[in-house]
Amino acid sequence: MEKTQVLLVGAAGETGGSIANGLIEDGSFEVHALVRPASVHKPAVIKLQERGIQIRKGDLKAPEEQLIELLAEIDVVISCVGPAEQQDQIPLAKAAKKCGVKRFIPCGFITVAPPGGVMWLRDEKEIVYNQIRQLWLPYTIVDVGWWYQLSYPRLPSGRVDYAMTSGNDEIIGNGNKPTALTDLRDIGRYMALIIKDPRTLNKKILAYNQVSTQNQIYSLMEEVSEEKIDRNYVSEETICSRVLAARQASETYPFDPIKFVPRYLAEYQYSWGIRGDNDPEYARYLGYYLTPELYPEFKPSDFRQYLESVVRGTAKGVYQDRIVSRKHQRHFPRTESSDSLYARIFPRTESSDSLMSR
Ligand SMILES: NC(=O)c1ccc[n+]([C@@H]2O[C@H](COP(=O)([O-])OP(=O)(O)OC[C@H]3O[C@@H](n4cnc5c(N)ncnc54)[C@H](OP(=O)(O)O)[C@@H]3O)[C@@H](O)[C@H]2O)c1
Repeated sequence: MEKTQVLLVGAAGETGGSIANGLIEDGSFEVHALVRPASVHKPAVIKLQERGIQIRKGDLKAPEEQLIELLAEIDVVISCVGPAEQQDQIPLAKAAKKCGVKRFIPCGFITVAPPGGVMWLRDEKEIVYNQIRQLWLPYTIVDVGWWYQLSYPRLPSGRVDYAMTSGNDEIIGNGNKPTALTDLRDIGRYMALIIKDPRTLNKKILAYNQVSTQNQIYSLMEEVSEEKIDRNYVSEETICSRVLAARQASETYPFDPIKFVPRYLAEYQYSWGIRGDNDPEYARYLGYYLTPELYPEFKPSDFRQYLESVVRGTAKGVYQDRIVSRKHQRHFPRTESSDSLYARIFPRTESSDSLMSR
């Protein structure tokens, strides 16, 4: 049988790397990676080539005729770009329509949240989705809940710091909102199923492994590590103040990472921790299909086993190769509560009327 030709954008990134693995392991795809000329010599890109992925040198910001060349013979496009690059996908979607691409998967891959003012990052993605629908381009939107890799708390001994990107020492609200969790490494395995499945065409999918509250994650981490973890509950009022302050701070230059990173971090906490948006039942209400129902035979990676590997010191952290992440860690020591960090960076705002709980 002829292999499906897939163009993967962001294959050297975290989500893109998982998808590259999942598609290669599945074996029914010929995978091409769209890689920026400046990135073709990155070790991650060289590794992809060694594993049989073909590199198409190009940039989402290239003129349309180049994008059309990059899409030659492609059946499916999957895009996994960073928060500031969401709207850069629109010219690729327009070119994909002209080339007759059979399925375009824009960069979703976040937690569930409704569009329209709850999360800037969600709304950036929705702008792209609306463009796709206006083009009448076949699509699938895939969200994945919260990565296992970002969900667990720091241990007092510091022995899991090696795998963490931030202190992660806060429980949002009362810590009892159910939230969908997925192992980053499983995203590619889900994608291999989703893009072969006619039921998922022109649909939204929530791919997730399990549902836990933050309190349950803390208890599991305590059990696995045999360490007692302080429970630093951060009130709804504090989260709302952070969101409002971060929004005000990012008004002038919304695409400046110094502005949008605090904004989307605060809005994530507000969305999954206070509103409880990242719940499969809410996803179903929003019209998502759920992977446990689509693929009951899928064996997700086990969360406890993942935490055991983190505690043992054998887990792979995320974003470990980024200079920006090392710099971030130097500026914001992991031992410092991000609550106090926010309080120092942002002035406290008085009203949270514009934030609405569900
Ligand atoms: N659910 C969760 O818990 C969670 C966690 C983190 C992120 N996410 C979501 O996942 C999505 C992907 O994030 P990530 O952290 O996996 O991304 P990432 O590791 O930062 O990788 C982004 C990739 O996009 C490529 N890229 C950027 N601009 C490009 C352009 N103009 N042309 C071609 N390629 C370009 C980059 O290429 P270079 O190699 O050239 O830089 C890089 O490979 C984000 O949108 C975010 O919403 C979700």
